[in-house]
Amino acid sequence: MAAPVLIDTDPGIDDALALLFGWNSPEISVEAITTVAGNVPVEQGTVNVFRLLGLREPSPRPVIGVGAAEPLARALVTAQRYHGEDGLGDLPDWPEAEKPPLEPDAVSVIVDHARRLQRLLTLVAIGPLTNLALTLKADAGAVSLIGRIVAMGGAVDVPGNITPTAEFNMSVDPEAAHRVLAARLPLDLVPLDATRQAVLPRAGLKSAFRRGSGPLGDRIVAFTERGFRLDHAGGAQGLVLHDPLALALAIDPTLAEWEAVRLVIGPEGETLRASGEPNCRIAKGVDTDRFLRLFLERLCPPVPPRPASS
Ligand code: BDR
Ligand code: CA
Repeated sequence: MAAPVLIDTDPGIDDALALLFGWNSPEISVEAITTVAGNVPVEQGTVNVFRLLGLREPSPRPVIGVGAAEPLARALVTAQRYHGEDGLGDLPDWPEAEKPPLEPDAVSVIVDHARRLQRLLTLVAIGPLTNLALTLKADAGAVSLIGRIVAMGGAVDVPGNITPTAEFNMSVDPEAAHRVLAARLPLDLVPLDATRQAVLPRAGLKSAFRRGSGPLGDRIVAFTERGFRLDHAGGAQGLVLHDPLALALAIDPTLAEWEAVRLVIGPEGETLRASGEPNCRIAKGVDTDRFLRLFLERLCPPVPPRPASS
């Protein structure tokens, strides 16, 4: 049976890749998606989820819950400089997306799935942790039922990507990150220490799509172009697959080595090692080749060649 997953996201170029990867992974069933302010304002992130739903039409169709518009205690700082004003590379020609519903809200969706699925549920958080912190406040008992939480965020033994010491998701909402780490949850954190090993070379995407990938593949090439360009400019050898790696580790934890650690959150979202009982595990050494193979196999189902006309 496919394991039920809820994805909390702020799409985002790499978030979009994680959703497409998840929708084509037989080990999991993406039951719900909740959106949060982060890379872009939450309204835009929600539009992006509906754009992707329209493009891919996944089955089952996930429940969508719109989440927090602001971090818990500070103003939102987005990453539109990287992801584009619209979060998906500012392509001019997305088809009109379905109108996002006002309800249910993200907290209700998380509570409902946690209470119904309990230990079976894996929550994959690939944006700031605001929605999860708000759910803890609303119903900590429900959150404590969740089997596993995999969250992309932090920079433990490596430099940050938003300040010299902080990673983006943690720096957007450090107060939320603090509450999540203090809640004694089965938390697997996927920090930059791991995601910087998950780099997709441009040639990798091209060769994966050589078999024919149709309009979905063309769109992936188009909306990732900006990410490839900016990651190259930042010194990487391709596109850094932060959120897809978190999703992959939700599917198969053996793709990385893990270390149980105690972390505390600094004032700007720094993830600092501390002494005492571990409060999460962090992903470390990644089996990059195996991860990239899995990701590219699943990102976009190949389009069967058209039968020759007689
Ligand atoms: C994280 O920040 C966002 O810009 C990405 O989507 C990812 O979740 C990487 O630091
Ligand atoms: Ca993200």
